Amino acid sequence: MHLLQPDIERLASLSEVESNPEAREVFLKFRDELTQGRIRAAEKKDGQWTVNPWVKQGILLGFRLGELQEMGSGACLSFVDKDTFPARHFSVADRIRIVPGGSSIREGAYVAPSVICMPPIFINVGAYVDEGTMVDSHALVGSCAQVGKRVHLSAAAQIGGVLEPINAAPVIVEDDVLVGGNCGVYEGTLVKARAVLGAGTILTRSTPLYDLVRGEIYRATDKRPLEVPENAVVVPGSRAVKKGQAADWNLSLYTPVIVKYRDEKTDRGIELEDWLR
Ligand SMILES: CC(C)(COP(=O)(O)OP(=O)(O)OC[C@H]1O[C@@H](n2cnc3c(N)ncnc32)[C@H](O)[C@@H]1OP(=O)(O)O)[C@@H](O)C(=O)NCCC(=O)NCCS
Repeated sequence: MHLLQPDIERLASLSEVESNPEAREVFLKFRDELTQGRIRAAEKKDGQWTVNPWVKQGILLGFRLGELQEMGSGACLSFVDKDTFPARHFSVADRIRIVPGGSSIREGAYVAPSVICMPPIFINVGAYVDEGTMVDSHALVGSCAQVGKRVHLSAAAQIGGVLEPINAAPVIVEDDVLVGGNCGVYEGTLVKARAVLGAGTILTRSTPLYDLVRGEIYRATDKRPLEVPENAVVVPGSRAVKKGQAADWNLSLYTPVIVKYRDEKTDRGIELEDWLR
């Protein structure tokens, strides 16, 4: 158990905490640990992901404690937000490339050395982005989302957060995954290593995932989120609705489909240019 966990849990349970100086002190230590990647909203232990609910409690404590503050350089753009969650500042020593153009990474988000951020992006508090990952333009890494090593979050990929709506598990994208352009991964979905989400794929707790290769349908349950198997290549599809008025109207519903498992052709198609890194 992390040293700060009992304090966070105690403070989070108090009805009146806003004027408690100890609460702010504990929260700032907690936020720093998150920023350094020493605390995570979810961790993989013995091959299984475990959620740390107290981390979300700590983040919500920061929202309760925060006072509105004016932020920004003042020269051109100005911002107003809770003073407990300012934007992070980076230096060359961080070894993270943040291409100019309007990105924002909040304090309490961990971004590993060698990550590349193309503008504009937003990485929210509690997010964890591991080494070698590329976060392309207009991508969102939502609160507490866990993104592995060498992941490619393509342009406009949206990795949902866990703070709203209230949801126990953060979205997890494991190592070497490609999330194609305009994808949306929400509500605790787990995308396992080396999976490929074709452009425009949307995954939520309510989206059944049809595996054409193995002849199975994967769904989230009360206890487990939707899981995309390792190496799966998922593309957006549709399925006919055969009941009621929908049948008369020839309606179909959006359905993500596993069309294959990753092979050399897929690898060639999504190969990245080393020189850009
Ligand atoms: C998924 C993807 C990687 C293709 O993978 P692949 O292994 O080369 O797939 P294949 O070409 O072998 O296609 C396998 C089957 O899926 C279908 N398919 C492939 N991509 C598809 C897509 N995006 N939507 C619908 N069907 C698709 C193919 O037609 C094929 O079916 P068929 O055999 O009946 O014709 C590619 O479609 C994709 O979405 N790439 C990401 C692009 C992107 O977002 N880039 C962002 C850079 S910023």
